[in-house]
Amino acid sequence: MGMRVDIATLFPQECQNYLDQSILGRAAARGYIETHCHQIRDYTLNKQKQTDDYPYGGGCGMVMYAQPIADCIREINRQVEESGRSKPHVIFMTAAGKRYSEEDAKRLAEYDSLLLVCGHYEGIDERVIEAFADEEISIGDYVLTGGELAALVVADSVLRLQPGVLAEEKGYQEESHWNGLLEYPQYTRPEVWEGRTVPGVLLSGHHANIQKWRQEQSLERTRVRRPDLYALYEEKEKGTK
Ligand code: ADE
Repeated sequence: MGMRVDIATLFPQECQNYLDQSILGRAAARGYIETHCHQIRDYTLNKQKQTDDYPYGGGCGMVMYAQPIADCIREINRQVEESGRSKPHVIFMTAAGKRYSEEDAKRLAEYDSLLLVCGHYEGIDERVIEAFADEEISIGDYVLTGGELAALVVADSVLRLQPGVLAEEKGYQEESHWNGLLEYPQYTRPEVWEGRTVPGVLLSGHHANIQKWRQEQSLERTRVRRPDLYALYEEKEKGTK
């Protein structure tokens, strides 16, 4: 049984549409992964199906009620357990969460199932986070109007690491961030495009030279573009010598 990801959101169709496309859609159709998006609004108990209200203490924006989110999570937990799995690892997407990285993607890829909860508007009643969250994740230091894009970022980056999703395991092992460095530049046909040529070494067929060139490009790019990552990489290298 491949990994299962559930998303609780006010925009389940938009999220499911994304997950059903391209590489992830194909992997799901072949049974390597499973994705399910759920409408939080279906769990409201008021006639207007309202999901949010004014914040206690005042301030701008609206805050999502705890109750519909809690009942939606309970129902998803039930469905996941009914399918023969253990309770999912529950993650709330919030700008106030811990910042996400490829390290987290690798860690989360080890779970049998994840439940990603998306807030919308200004926030979510803290009590439902306290009651249900195993962790809170932010995808970066900026604010989105909702957690949906963040949940899709986490789902995508975790699911692509599952066996059967990418054509080759090497597909991700040479990419940016896998080893803490940025990826080297890539080229495909034609050899000359609008006067720009492909670096000669890549056409040489000399495997060792190609490897060496790519490693140098990776290091140089990281040094210039991401001095923070470069410093970490240097520390790590020193430790292994
Ligand atoms: N919701 C709003 N902003 C967010 C962010 N940066 N990461 C995760 N969820 C969010």
